[in-house]
Amino acid sequence: MEMLSDPSQRHAPSARVLRLGVAGLGVASTLFLPGVEQSQHARIVAAADLRRSAREAFARKYQGRSYGSVEELCDDADVDVIWIATPNQFHCRHTVMAAEHGKHVICTKPMALTVAECEEMCVAADRNSVKLVCGQTYSMSPDVQAMWRVARSGELGRLIAINTWLYTDWLLKPRVAEETDETLGGGVVYRHAPHLIDTVRLLGGGLVRCVRASVGRWMPQRPCLGNFSAYLEFEDGTPATIVYNGYGYFDTSELTWGIGNRMYADVERVAVRRALRRGEIDAETAKEGMRFGAGTADATSRGSAQAAPGIGTRAHIGWFGITVASFERGDVRQSPNGVYVYGDDGRREIPVHGGRGTGLLEMREMYEALVEGKPITHDGRWAMATLEVGNAIVQSAQERREIILTHQCKLAV
Ligand SMILES: NC(=O)c1ccc[n+]([C@@H]2O[C@H](COP(=O)([O-])OP(=O)(O)OC[C@H]3O[C@@H](n4cnc5c(N)ncnc54)[C@H](O)[C@@H]3O)[C@@H](O)[C@H]2O)c1
Repeated sequence: MEMLSDPSQRHAPSARVLRLGVAGLGVASTLFLPGVEQSQHARIVAAADLRRSAREAFARKYQGRSYGSVEELCDDADVDVIWIATPNQFHCRHTVMAAEHGKHVICTKPMALTVAECEEMCVAADRNSVKLVCGQTYSMSPDVQAMWRVARSGELGRLIAINTWLYTDWLLKPRVAEETDETLGGGVVYRHAPHLIDTVRLLGGGLVRCVRASVGRWMPQRPCLGNFSAYLEFEDGTPATIVYNGYGYFDTSELTWGIGNRMYADVERVAVRRALRRGEIDAETAKEGMRFGAGTADATSRGSAQAAPGIGTRAHIGWFGITVASFERGDVRQSPNGVYVYGDDGRREIPVHGGRGTGLLEMREMYEALVEGKPITHDGRWAMATLEVGNAIVQSAQERREIILTHQCKLAV
C-alpha cells in the first residue's frame, strides 16, 4: 500500500486495506487476531515477539514477516498500524516508539501504568500525526454500544444510576509474575477493571468527578489485588458502582444465562484452586500453552462460560458481568441477544448483531478515522481517563478517602 505524497497526509493510507503489525504474540493476540482476520479493512502482515516459537508460528499462519524486537517491526515500511499487545509495563515505550516511526497505533488495555505515561503516548501520537486507538475493551462491544444508544436517546428520561458487578475466576487462571506484580500493572484493577470502568464511563458520559473505593488482596498464591468495590460520582451527580471479585467462587455468569468471562467450569475451579494451594501449578508453562501458536488457545472457547442451551454463538465472547443502567422511567441491561429495555409498558429486547470479540471493532475505528476522517471514540485521552479511575480506586483504598479526578473527558463523538 502506498502513502499519500502530501506531507500533511504523511501517514494516511491511500489504499483501502490497513497493513497490521502485531507487537506481542501472547494470549491477548489470540483473542483479537481472529477478529482482525474478519476485517475487510485490515491485513495481518508482520509481528514482533521475543519468543522464537511465536514468531515461527506467526510466519506459518499468516505468511508474514516476524521480528525479534518491536523496534524492527517499527522499521518495517510496509506496516501501517501496530497493535501493541506486549505486557502492560511496555505499552508506553512501544506506543511512543511506533508513533515516532510514523505508525498508527492500537494499544490494548490498560493503556499504560500511569496518567503521565498515557499523556506521553498521546503527545507522541499528536506530534507524529498518527492515530491512537485504545482497544480490547468490552465497552466497544455492540451490546454495550446499544445500551449507550438507549441512554443517549432519552426515551427513558435522565440517567439516574449505573451499577455493575463482575464475579469471575481471573485469579485462578495461569498468571505469570508480571500479572501479579502491581508495580508492573498486575492485579485486577489494571488487567480487568478497564472493561468495567470504560463501560460505566461510556454510559455515564465520561466525566467522573470522584471515586471512593476499597480493595482486597485475599489469595496468598496470587499476591495482588483481587477484588474491589468502588463508588463513582459523575460531574452531573449521577452515581455508579463497580463491584469486582476475581477469586472464582461465585460467578456472575450464573445469573446471565451462562454467558460470562470465566475460564473454568465449576468442577475445574475446585481442582485448580486445590492445585494452586499445593503449589502444583506452573503458571509459566500453563500460560505458554495459551499463547499464539501453542495450539491450545482458541478464542471461541476460552474466556467464556458455557452458555445455556439456546443462547446464540455471538454470546460466547467477552461478557463482563451484569451492568444495569437506570433511568427515571426504566432500566437497560444486556440480554442474551442484545439488550433488554424495561419501561412503563414492560420489557422489550433490542437485538444486536455482530460478535462481542475484539479485533474487528478496533480495526473499524482505525479505518474510519484514517480513511473516512471520523473521530476515534476510544482514543488516548479517553483511555487515559479510564486509567485515572482505576488508579484512583487503588489510591482511595490506600488512603481511605475520596479521590477527585482531573483528567476526565467526554467521548469524542
Ligand atoms: N490475557 C488476556 O486475556 C488479555 C485480554 C485482553 C488484553 N490483554 C492485555 O494484553 C497484554 C498482554 O497480555 P497477555 O496476557 O497476552 O500476556 P502474554 O505474556 O501472554 O503476552 C505478551 C507477549 O509479549 C511478548 N513480549 C514481552 N516483552 C516483549 C518485548 N519487549 N518485545 C516484544 N515482545 C515482547 C511476550 O513474549 C509474549 O508473547 C496486556 O496488556 C494485557 O492487559 C490480555
